[in-house]
Amino acid sequence: MSSCDTLIRNARVLDGSGSAAEVLDVAIRDGRICGIGTNLDGSADSVVDARGLSLAPGFIDVHTHDDVAVIRKPAMLPKLSQGVTTVIVGNCGISAAPVGLRGELPDPMNLLGDAGDFRFARFADYVAAVREARPAVNVAALVGHTALRNNHMDRLDRAATSVEIEAMRAQLREALDAGALGLSTGLAYGSANAATTEEVIALAEPLAAAGAVYTTHMRTETAAILDAMNEAFQIGRLNHVPVIISHLKCAGIDNWGRSGEVLRELDAARAMQQAGCDCYPYAAGSSTLDLGQVDERVKITITWSTPHPEIAGATIDEIAASWGVTQMEAARRLQPAGAIYHSISEDDMRRILQHSATMIGSDGLPCDPRPHPRLWGTFPRVLGRYVREEKLFTIQQAVQKMTGMPAQRFGLAGRGLIRAGYFADLVLFNPEKIIDTATYSNPERRAEGIRAVWVNGILSYTNEGATGERAGRYLPRGKTTWVQ
Ligand code: ZN
Ligand code: CU
Repeated sequence: MSSCDTLIRNARVLDGSGSAAEVLDVAIRDGRICGIGTNLDGSADSVVDARGLSLAPGFIDVHTHDDVAVIRKPAMLPKLSQGVTTVIVGNCGISAAPVGLRGELPDPMNLLGDAGDFRFARFADYVAAVREARPAVNVAALVGHTALRNNHMDRLDRAATSVEIEAMRAQLREALDAGALGLSTGLAYGSANAATTEEVIALAEPLAAAGAVYTTHMRTETAAILDAMNEAFQIGRLNHVPVIISHLKCAGIDNWGRSGEVLRELDAARAMQQAGCDCYPYAAGSSTLDLGQVDERVKITITWSTPHPEIAGATIDEIAASWGVTQMEAARRLQPAGAIYHSISEDDMRRILQHSATMIGSDGLPCDPRPHPRLWGTFPRVLGRYVREEKLFTIQQAVQKMTGMPAQRFGLAGRGLIRAGYFADLVLFNPEKIIDTATYSNPERRAEGIRAVWVNGILSYTNEGATGERAGRYLPRGKTTWVQ
């Protein structure tokens, strides 16, 4: 073999396909994997002795709200430090582009940034801004239904008219032409809940011809979850597009124990159409504070509050007691606010995480001053806690859920596998040591056990920290290949 930039020797290679590890050398040249084999010879500028360490494709965080963060905080340390080399933004119906704000930022678009951060009237403007910011990780983007609604509707508490749907559809088409991965919805939120199924079906029409996907934060994750799943599957079926259910969970105490039923529904759909989901490895969710989720039996921590910033970190229970009001009244006074809801059963979460159709997505909130620990901990937590300690599934299955499967489903060409010719997005980690350290009380802590992260062949992170290189790219939509 001729000379290369980096030669990683004797790594336990998990190639992202779900195959068991093999001890191999991997060579990198000009941003791509140029050789894989035993005892590769040839010279390299940098040789890494990876004996005892695992080498995987860089992790793909399929569910993020990093739309603005990749521009504002391009070092992307919460993700890079986990071995994540690609983030998919624009989930839950909210995206930074295309957006033309006329008034206030509607909930939950405020999770992404301030009104001033929404300055991309066309999707192509966002792509240009990402390229200019040169983030440390690759970025691929969905278009949010709520963002489109807000561009074209005077109020969001009603269904869109056919004229408005046509205007939204034209913007979606333009975004798809500029490389967007697909459409996301956040039908549970007040800003999209009044949208009818027909509105989404009509809007999603351009996805099929583009080979794009439909992802959804469903209309509900509580009592009527099966109906909400069927709504999502119907939208996909009628439009002939793959459906990805975002952060699949059985939310709310009255709903605990229903993961078996929910996964059977998913499997039934999968017998007829392309469908899958993502999941984060925690028994608590986080978003803006929603009065509909206030429940005296559930611990809810406030992470920020515009009228009461001093209160961040306290629970609604404590706040209500100190104010001498009901929890509901306290929640009302705190708005707008952010919250962590401890409203998921660990058993349900594990069952969903384990399912063969489940990808890993952090759903981390990068602007939150006291973020849910999933922002910094998701991927090492799956590999450390749920694979090594709890043996919920094998390490090769975990890596596939984080790499090969998402790259295929979202159409990220040349990513997600360790193959000659593929982009050299790689993470080297110690499988005996990898673990999350971020907690609810101390959420902004780097994981342990990550030894090196290459993004497009450039060493970007080591156990000593970020190298300062920012080699991420904007990734346009490729061809989705769906292996059920
Ligand atoms: Zn969501
Ligand atoms: Cu989300």
